[in-house]
Amino acid sequence: MWEQKNIKKILLTEEQIKERSKELGKQITEDYKDKEKSPLLVALLRGSVPFLAELIKHIDLDLQYDFMDVKSYAGTESTGDIRILKDLDTSVKGMDIILVEDIVDTGRTIHTVCRTLLHKGAASVKIVTLLDKPSRREADVKPDYIGFEVENEFVVGYGLDFDQHYRTLPYVGVLKDECYQ
Ligand code: PRP
Repeated sequence: MWEQKNIKKILLTEEQIKERSKELGKQITEDYKDKEKSPLLVALLRGSVPFLAELIKHIDLDLQYDFMDVKSYAGTESTGDIRILKDLDTSVKGMDIILVEDIVDTGRTIHTVCRTLLHKGAASVKIVTLLDKPSRREADVKPDYIGFEVENEFVVGYGLDFDQHYRTLPYVGVLKDECYQ
């Protein structure tokens, strides 16, 4: 396949991701099934899209989902300020939110989005992420549902990009150093 010359190794196969998504979906179903209202899944564009598509197949609830697109402000890395490029169309007031991410890295993005949604009146905000890279964490955030913990390697595929490429790969792989250095 076209990308193979640039991929050092496959970290997670499509099968492994499907299997784990099924487990996470079951767990989420269990945790929310007795609540009065089903949770609103809020997926952060664009990386979370393939994971969202797989995960929702396995959550047995009357779900809704919506999207946000946020970017960190350039040059203000430590403050965790974000710019909202696309906001939600759904009101979050009184809603139980589950944020859907492809990866939690420094944690700044998700931390700031959580704060913003709680400030707007969300009843609760939890985080589900396909990948967690705790070794890079800077913000005080711990995802509630984690697909896989990964080392500090440059991962691409299943939504994760390098310069907008590799998002469509059906697996998560590690990019060869020479491709991004
Ligand atoms: C990536 C990823 C997370 C964020 C994680 O998004 O999807 O949203 O970075 O990094 P952090 O934990 O250090 O904040 P990116 O801004 O690259 O956008 P994308 O989803 O469109 O690739």
